[in-house]
Amino acid sequence: MVSLATDAALGLTNLDDEIVVDELALEGELPAWLGGSLLRTGPARWDLGKQTVNHWFDGLAMLHRFTIGDGRVAYANRFLRSKAFEAAADGRPGYREFATDPCRSAFQRVASLFAPGATDNANVNVARLMGKWVALTETPLAVTFDPETLETLGVTKLPATTGGLAHPHGDEGTALSMGVHLMGPRPQYRLIKDDQVAARLAVKRPAYVHSFGLTERFAVLAEHPYTVNPLKLAVGKGPFIEHFEWHPEDGTRFVVFDRQTGAHVGDWRSDPFFLFHHVNAFGDGEDIVVDMCVYADPEIVAALGLQRLRAGEAIPKAYLERFRLKPGGGVERTRLSDEPFELPRIDYGRVNGRPYRYAWGSGARAEFFDTIVKVDVTTGETLTWGEGYPGEPVYVGRPGRTEEDDGVLLSVVLEPERGASSMVVLDAATLTELARARVPHHIPFGFHGQFSRA
Ligand SMILES: [Fe+2]
Repeated sequence: MVSLATDAALGLTNLDDEIVVDELALEGELPAWLGGSLLRTGPARWDLGKQTVNHWFDGLAMLHRFTIGDGRVAYANRFLRSKAFEAAADGRPGYREFATDPCRSAFQRVASLFAPGATDNANVNVARLMGKWVALTETPLAVTFDPETLETLGVTKLPATTGGLAHPHGDEGTALSMGVHLMGPRPQYRLIKDDQVAARLAVKRPAYVHSFGLTERFAVLAEHPYTVNPLKLAVGKGPFIEHFEWHPEDGTRFVVFDRQTGAHVGDWRSDPFFLFHHVNAFGDGEDIVVDMCVYADPEIVAALGLQRLRAGEAIPKAYLERFRLKPGGGVERTRLSDEPFELPRIDYGRVNGRPYRYAWGSGARAEFFDTIVKVDVTTGETLTWGEGYPGEPVYVGRPGRTEEDDGVLLSVVLEPERGASSMVVLDAATLTELARARVPHHIPFGFHGQFSRA
C-alpha cells in the first residue's frame, strides 16, 4: 500500500477497477446542446507487483469515457490491452518506457528502440486518425480502440519510424505529425502528412519532441536544447529520457517547414527554454507567431518522477509565452499571462493556425495542477477556477457560436475530500461551474483527451 504524503498523491495511485456506469450522480445542469463523449487516456497502474515504474508518464494506459446526453453522464473505464500491458502481467515492465527501462541485454536494448520493440503503452493522447480512434504515445505505435466499449482493437504502426507523435494535427481529414526519425546514421526531423514524408531536416543531436505548431502555411517546431546523441540512445543503458542532455548555450532554434513545398525556411534562435506543448501558431504579416507553455529548463522532467510527486514535491511552473519570429531572424518573446499554464486547449477546429483570442489550460499554483486557467491572449486578461486537482480542460464550442469562448470546458478533477474524481463542466467564458458528474472511484492523473460529438 502506498502511503499518501499529500492530497494530490491519490491521483498517482493505481486504479484497478474497470467499470461501466449508465448514469453518474450529477449536480447542476448540463447544457442542452452538449452531446457526445469525452475520451481520455492516462496512466493508471504504476505499481506493477514486483516493480514500480519511475515516472508519472510510465504507468499502464487506461481509457476513460464520459458520455453526455439526455441530461445524463455515463462513464466507463478500461485498461488498454496493449502488448506493454500484457508484458507487465508478470509484475515488471516489458518495454522501454519514457523513464523506466526493463533489465535487458544490449542487443535487446537496440531492438527495443525501434518498432516492433517500441512500447505501445499509449497513455498520452487519443485522436481520430483516418477514421479510427487511436490512443497515442511517443512511439510510432498507435493502439486502435472502440470509442463505445473502450475495447482494444489492435496496434497500428504510424507512418515512418519517428518518435514524438503524441500530438498530431488534423483529424479525419489530413493528419500531420512532426517527429524525430531515428533509424539509420542520419537522424532527421520529419513532417509526416498522412503516410508521406512532407518535409525533412537532418539533425546531429535531435531534441526531445512532444508537439509542434501549425500555421496555415508553416509547420513550426521549437527545438529546445534538450538533445540526445542518437547512438548513445540506441546502445546505452537506462531509460529513454535519461539520455537527453540540457545544452542551454545552444539556445532554442525554431525549425520551420513550408507545408506545401516541404522547404526548410529561415533560421530563428531565442534564449533557451524547455517545452512540452505548443498552444497555437499563426502568420501575422511577415511574422510567424508561436505560443507555447514554456519552462525555464527541463527540471520538470525529473520533477514528474513518481517518487517526487508522491512525496508532494512541487513541480516547476510553465507559463504561456508568445514568440514572434521576425523576417531576418529576430525573435520577440512575451509572457502572455503570469498565471502558471500547461495542458493547453483552444477552439481547435476554428482557430488552430489562425489569429485567435482564448487559450485554456491547467495551472500548478501549489505542488501540482490545481487550477483551470483562461487567458485572453490579445489582452493578457486571465481568469482562474480552482478546486481539487483539475486536469486538462477540453474546450467544446456551442454549435452556431459567434464568440470563441461560447462553449464549455470538460475537466476531470480529483476531489481529495471524497477520495474520488468528477468530471466538471465549466462555462468556457466565465469559468463558472455548470455541472459536476461524480465518478465512484479516483481517476489517476492523465494527460489528454478529445471530445467526440454525438
Ligand atoms: Fe502532451
